[in-house]
Parts: sequence; C-alpha cells; structure tokens
Amino acid sequence: MSKWFYLNLVILLLAIWKVVNHFSFPVLSITILFGFIGFLFFLFNWTRNAVFSTIRNNPDRKTKIKLANLSKKAMPFHRWTGTLALVFILLHAGFILHWYGLSFHNLKMVAGLVALVNLLLMVLTGWWRLFKPTGKLRRIHLLLGISLFFIIAIHLLL
Ligand code: HEM
Repeated sequence: MSKWFYLNLVILLLAIWKVVNHFSFPVLSITILFGFIGFLFFLFNWTRNAVFSTIRNNPDRKTKIKLANLSKKAMPFHRWTGTLALVFILLHAGFILHWYGLSFHNLKMVAGLVALVNLLLMVLTGWWRLFKPTGKLRRIHLLLGISLFFIIAIHLLL
C-alpha cells in the first residue's frame, strides 16, 4: 500500500480530532462544518493519488486491475467533487471573514488563504486538462495536490 494511504489517514484523523475538540462541538458552527465538508471532498479526490501510487508500485496484476477499475468508477465525479470542495471552502472562508474579519496576524487564517489559492489553481488545472490533456498540466495538477495536502495539514495544526 502506498505511503499516501497512511498520510491521508493521518490528516483525516487530525481533522476529526480538531473538529471534535472545537469549542462549538457538538453543535458545530456552520463555519467549521463547511471547512470540514470541503476538507472531506478534497481528501476523497486526493485518495485517487494514493490509489495510483499503489497501482504503480504493486507487483500483483490482479490488484492493479482491481484498483484501476475502482479509480475509473470515481473518475466521472472527480472534477465535480473537486469543484464542490472549492465551493464549501469558499463558504467556510466567507463565514470566517464575516465573523473574524481579515487578519494577516492570524497564521491559521493566512495558511487557510494560501490553501484556498492552491485549491483554486488545482480546480482550474483540473478543468483545463479537459481541453488540454498534456503531461505538463498533469504534473502541475499533481504538484498542486501535494502542496495543498501539506498546507491544509499546517492550517489544521495552527
Ligand atoms: C482548503 C482550504 C481549507 C480547509 C480544508 C479548511 C478546513 C478547516 C477545518 C476542518 C477547520 C476546523 C478545525 C480547526 O479548527 O482546525 C478550519 C478552521 C478554521 N479555518 Fe479553515 N480551511 C480552509 C481554508 C480556510 C480559509 C481560506 C480561511 C480564511 C479565510 C480559513 C480560516 C479558518 C479559521 C480562522 C479557522 C478556525 C475557526 C475557529 O476556531 O472558530 N480556512 N478550517
């Protein structure tokens, strides 16, 4: 199994831990709920990377085929789940900015804004690949995914 499965599990547990320890839990403010839903949509799509990475490194042909079919099934939704992640994060950011105001002294907010720009670029390159399916764009999309993963982890930890 790819190391990405373990990393994805770690970030999922981190997000759950942060949400259940939030002062508004268990009622949960809509702000936190939208952040968490956006995060789940991102992670659903990012798990595709873990599946591909396993396909590349697994010597068993049967497992490779099984995983490739699984990934193919999720593919028609990939662009839409990514776009939904962006919609929920925009709502999350909108509520945060409404309640707290914009502050560059708040590092959690700064990391969140960087993650938002990264996510926006990810969604844009994802749609762009529909019209221009080049290897360069695929690599850029993948690199944006890796950086988004770590920026979200920082956002959650701060
Ligand atoms: C991909 C982008 C983002 C994801 C996945 C995300 C996810 C989350 C999650 C799950 C939480 C609740 C857990 C915690 O407190 O750590 C949270 C909290 C928070 N987020 Fe985000 N977020 C994103 C972008 C943003 C943006 C753009 C902003 C700023 C405009 C922002 C500002 C905040 C703040 C200030 C909190 C703490 C709120 C509080 O404690 O009441 N986030 N985020």
